Amino acid sequence: MSVPIVRTVAELRRIVGTWRAEGHRVAVVPTMGALHEGHLSLVRAALADAERVIVTLFVNPKQFNSAADLAAYPRTENEDAAKLAPLGAHLLFCPDGDEMYPAGFATTVSVTGVSEGLCGAHRPGHFDGVATVVSKLFLQAGADAAFFGEKDFQQLQVVRRMAADLNIPIEVTGCPTVREADGLALSSRNVRLSAQERRIAPALAKVLFETAERLGAGESVELLLAEARARIEAAGFREVEYLELRAEDDLAPLPVLDRAGRLLVAAWLGETRLIDNVSAPARQAIPQSPPGRLVDGQI
Ligand code: PAF
Repeated sequence: MSVPIVRTVAELRRIVGTWRAEGHRVAVVPTMGALHEGHLSLVRAALADAERVIVTLFVNPKQFNSAADLAAYPRTENEDAAKLAPLGAHLLFCPDGDEMYPAGFATTVSVTGVSEGLCGAHRPGHFDGVATVVSKLFLQAGADAAFFGEKDFQQLQVVRRMAADLNIPIEVTGCPTVREADGLALSSRNVRLSAQERRIAPALAKVLFETAERLGAGESVELLLAEARARIEAAGFREVEYLELRAEDDLAPLPVLDRAGRLLVAAWLGETRLIDNVSAPARQAIPQSPPGRLVDGQI
């Protein structure tokens, strides 16, 4: 069985209209393709939630900071469709650039607060691009539910804020980060790592999990973050772009862990920028997935 592919908003709406007339709940999984097990876990979660699941595949130029990065982004539509078919996804929506941003397109959706700092500080305009395309995808698909990975935790909070602020009637669900057996968070960027970098990469998750545990035990946030930075660099990362403890819900900086926190990092390993995050519960001995478990929270 192959997944039907549609390329226009009109056709997407026509099909979703027939599903709605049949009384089906509809979920959407927005992606930029190059699908890996992390994406597939979102599709499985969507299929468990809704009778009809749309996967979108659009490499969104508005969220790239560099033309070279956009050009280098993998385009693997046939392989992606082949990965989706056995799961039972019902539709793959692959608009081209003109369908998504026709001539004269002049609107930007910009979310303040949660999009500031962290990746927002280092990738200017990135979250405007994400909020703009995701709001369009939500309105185009008219789905009841949407699924995103917690791997891009700041993006998830930007999308939640945007949907709430614009009264888009959709439930946004964040799904746990899927990890390799050694703890490295799955990412389409991992293929860019050399063999030696790939050996170093799991240190990022290891330091995050250990730091979160010690934060929960009450150690100083400031001292632990400084130590964690030093450990990541000592492991072989070229630069830690940011390593911060933020509040889980509104991403406010947390100088002390007095409410549910999230420890977020971006670091450069050679020419590859890796991001990751783990929860930092504000109490002791909360179980988290150590490296070696496949999915955060599956213990
Ligand atoms: O996470 C991604 O793949 C993209 O940022 C998204 C949400 C599909 C928007 O282009």
